[in-house]
Amino acid sequence: MSQKRENWGSRLGFIMAAAGSAVGLGNIWRFPYMTGENGGGAFIIIYLAFALIIGLSIMLAEFAVGRRSGLGAVGAYKSYSDRWSFAGALGVLSGFFIMGFYPVVGGWALAYVFKSFGGLLAAPEAMGDVFGGFITNPVQPLIWMLIFLAMNIVIVAKGISGGIEKAGKILMPTLFALFIFLAIKSISLPGAGAGLEFLFKPDWSVVTGQTFLAALGQAFFSLSLGMGAMMTYGSYLNKQENLQSNALIVTLMDTGVALLAGIAIFPALFAFGMEPAAGPGLVFVVVPSIFAEMGGAGVFFSAIFFIALVVAALTSSVSLLEVVVAYLIDQKNMVRKTAVYGTSAIMVVLGILSSLSLGIMSGVTVFGVGAFDFFDILTDKIFLAIGGLLLAIFVGWFLKKEDLKDELTNGGTIKFGLFEAWYNLVKYVIPVAIAIIAVAGITSIAQKGLMIFGLLVIVVLAIFSKKL
Ligand code: TRP
Repeated sequence: MSQKRENWGSRLGFIMAAAGSAVGLGNIWRFPYMTGENGGGAFIIIYLAFALIIGLSIMLAEFAVGRRSGLGAVGAYKSYSDRWSFAGALGVLSGFFIMGFYPVVGGWALAYVFKSFGGLLAAPEAMGDVFGGFITNPVQPLIWMLIFLAMNIVIVAKGISGGIEKAGKILMPTLFALFIFLAIKSISLPGAGAGLEFLFKPDWSVVTGQTFLAALGQAFFSLSLGMGAMMTYGSYLNKQENLQSNALIVTLMDTGVALLAGIAIFPALFAFGMEPAAGPGLVFVVVPSIFAEMGGAGVFFSAIFFIALVVAALTSSVSLLEVVVAYLIDQKNMVRKTAVYGTSAIMVVLGILSSLSLGIMSGVTVFGVGAFDFFDILTDKIFLAIGGLLLAIFVGWFLKKEDLKDELTNGGTIKFGLFEAWYNLVKYVIPVAIAIIAVAGITSIAQKGLMIFGLLVIVVLAIFSKKL
């Protein structure tokens, strides 16, 4: 490989970048509405268990494989055997499809920065209608999506994420602070108690196989796992760093932000008498409603909140685009700019389809779902889970146990007391668990159709593995 591998300037730089990839729309937009749709507390407990047991183990495995090979997703698998390239390529494809809907939501966040100033907060009772009207509009959300994607293109085409990382260093803590503030405000609203009960008093009667799959998908999506993104990050990490503590910190930060988003949103939601299962609009409706309670200053806070959300989304989407671009550069010898422009041109088309599928194209469906849901279900319920499963099998059954131990203990210089537990989890428990959850959770026609489609894609990738 001709490219020189850079290392992270500092440990903080790495954590910020990995956490920047992890913390994004997944925590702030997706987690609350998944929690709402899946009945609250019980979903949260299952999600936390999956994030801390399966997610953390897989993240550690991704870091180890990435640092050991010093290569990104496809390269890392390929350096073991050509036959395994398909597992990395599946990750590249996941990145591609996630970018088929992620910029749509990023565009919404961007639009809401400006809407905050444009009288959005003046009519709290219309908040839901404003959101519904906006995302189903055939033109406006497309423009915002294109602007959001353009920001990604500029950042990734230059090959420097320095600027965005600097912005993240200021705006991520800002987002965190705003959420703490929002949470306090939210809990102090009259009638907020019902929201806390919804979050922390699990109702197990609403739990089905679907709940488990939704929680697993959410854990993978939120932690940026199952598609080699963390592998790529690990490949830049130097040999002295402690992989265990890095993985733990990133996981805790990510789940912490998600929980905080939940605590900020649900008490207010119940206080305002809204529907927890309202779907993807949750954050865009509830958060401005909380700010609207604050009078004039609310406008500024709301704008800052959405700016911070845009930046959190950008630090994630940049990592998604980079996985695809890095593959084309490393494995296909493409020039960076060509890779970025070519890839994003297709993403523009996917994004337009996604956005329109919520409005004028809502009648156009495959397996009963529109483009937005198609890309969403295909990635977080199918590709990421299978990506994680393949990684666990690869690490548990193909890599040498001593090599893994060596990598995770930095050649024996640091301790990893839980090595055996981690190894057995990855080798036996996680593959079986993911398989069971997938079978139990794939119940709707759409999911079944997409599962078959996904498996076909994987078979095709496997057949052409040597060419990838
Ligand atoms: N984790 C990000 C979020 O929560 C999304 C994301 C970025 C991602 N990179 C990823 C998801 C890689 C899966 C895989 O918004």
